[in-house]
Amino acid sequence: MRMLVTGGAGFIGSAVLRSVAENTDRAVFNTDKLTCAGELASLAEVEAHPRFFFKKVDTCDQDAIQRIFKKHRPDAVMHLAARFGVVIREWYNAMELYIDEVLVAR
Ligand SMILES: NC(=O)c1ccc[n+]([C@@H]2O[C@H](COP(=O)([O-])OP(=O)(O)OC[C@H]3O[C@@H](n4cnc5c(N)ncnc54)[C@H](O)[C@@H]3O)[C@@H](O)[C@H]2O)c1
Repeated sequence: MRMLVTGGAGFIGSAVLRSVAENTDRAVFNTDKLTCAGELASLAEVEAHPRFFFKKVDTCDQDAIQRIFKKHRPDAVMHLAARFGVVIREWYNAMELYIDEVLVAR
């Protein structure tokens, strides 16, 4: 079975990839735009694995996604590419701002 995981460098995607590598014999193609939330280091355990492939691709790039489908013919897709981490980061930034400018400044 061949899987396509979008957003595989993210928090959930990288955990999925590590679990697939450890527990199955599936081939996995990971695509990720590598936004500020994407962390390739989180894939260090699986990146050298012969069953794993990574390509920096924007999921919104329809032509690139179609080429990947044609070439790798995945049987399953886990679509985890999202702006989720950005929301968390913005929340963090807001908290830092609050701590620096409200609490510390008092
Ligand atoms: N983290 C959680 O606790 C949690 C809980 C429930 C559901 N989810 C869902 O799981 C999904 C992934 O969440 P996450 O926490 O891993 O987010 P994340 O921000 O850590 O990872 C998202 C990944 O998507 C990539 N990405 C963003 N836009 C892209 C694009 N246009 N093309 C390709 N890649 C793109 C980013 O580079 C990043 O690596 C989201 O849909 C989120 O709502 C997350």
